[in-house]
Amino acid sequence: MSDLLFSSIQVGRMSLASRIVMAPLTRSRAGAGNVPTGINVEYYRQRAGAALIITEATQISQQGQGYAWTPGIYSDAQVEGWRPIAKAVHEKGGHIFMQLWHVGRVSHPSFQPGGGLPVAPTAMPVEGKTFIVDADGNGTWADLLVPQELTLDGIKAIIADYATAAVNALAAGMDGIEIHAANGYLIDQFINSASNHRRDAYGGPVAHRARLLLEIVDAVIAVAGEDRVGVRLTPLGRFMGMGDDTPEETFDYIATALDRRKIAYLHAVEPTTFGVETDMPITPEGEAMMRLIRKRFSGTIIVAGGYDQRKAEQALADGRADMVAFGKLFISNPDLPVRFSVGAALNEADRATFFGGGAHGYTDYPSLPSSVTLEAIAG
Ligand SMILES: Cc1cc2nc3c(=O)[nH]c(=O)nc-3n(C[C@H](O)[C@H](O)[C@H](O)COP(=O)(O)O)c2cc1C
Repeated sequence: MSDLLFSSIQVGRMSLASRIVMAPLTRSRAGAGNVPTGINVEYYRQRAGAALIITEATQISQQGQGYAWTPGIYSDAQVEGWRPIAKAVHEKGGHIFMQLWHVGRVSHPSFQPGGGLPVAPTAMPVEGKTFIVDADGNGTWADLLVPQELTLDGIKAIIADYATAAVNALAAGMDGIEIHAANGYLIDQFINSASNHRRDAYGGPVAHRARLLLEIVDAVIAVAGEDRVGVRLTPLGRFMGMGDDTPEETFDYIATALDRRKIAYLHAVEPTTFGVETDMPITPEGEAMMRLIRKRFSGTIIVAGGYDQRKAEQALADGRADMVAFGKLFISNPDLPVRFSVGAALNEADRATFFGGGAHGYTDYPSLPSSVTLEAIAG
């Protein structure tokens, strides 16, 4: 197998030793007040061998939360909670971007300030569930409700929250910000025509539906610099009721607009048959979409979605991507890059412990003995 995965690359301000990215992974293990704790520090420390870690999705505000026990970056305590995570990753030579998240309609009144309805581009019914905390403090699934339509002032406030969250993430020591515009959450709800029926400047033609994304990108660039901003997209995604009438036009427009802004990277969850949650192979429409994005966006492209080492080498060799993000493989293999480099067997991920709980299925996946390190192999 060729070893393009282990070639170096410059991304924004970062000189990275490999092309291996840890994908953003919600694990629902934050402490009280949605503050990261010591166990979260240990989890990220173990995975710092990735060239770049993208944190689990982190809410920019109370309104932006949609699932139990996910971390935030809007209170002082949360900033203090994230600080040792960034430090631990840097001490091991790694880099870390924070994924900023607003879930939009994928929430529940129990998370909302004042117990109100979640917000969305359009007040329409949506099929889906979110994970809430019941009266006994246990997690339980709840149906999504018809959300309330965002006002123009409400949209302005959210853009301001993104900028503040980016300032906070940098204050906590993050190397940059990934804007989560994928997987059916707020920004994606604006992008897709299925979930956006507005008739104002934020709905209708593609330029209107992409406006929220681009205003958020510009607000975050203003505080972080374009070379510390990445954007994650799911073109052709179906998760959480997504769907678009003119996906080529939509993502052509978005990739071109992001290219103009010279952001550090564009991160695409590759379109598969069913969307983000499966390991299905990429479809012909998906391939065409990725070619279009490659044509329009001249910066670094990260791909994700069902990759193993062989497929990743292929994507780099084809020129489809510059870096590859691994999700489930990083959950169960904290030392994934070392395992790739020596061809070691991989631990299987336990789906039962993906969300919520403690150390089990989180920080107790075994690494290879410490004598097997990338330095030892190189030396
Ligand atoms: C447990 C779990 C949590 C996830 N959380 C997030 C998240 O917080 N943000 C995000 O953009 N994607 C999230 N994803 C999607 C992954 O980043 C990735 O795109 C997906 O798992 C496909 O990659 P893989 O096949 O390498 O796992 C999550 C996936 C899993 C399995």
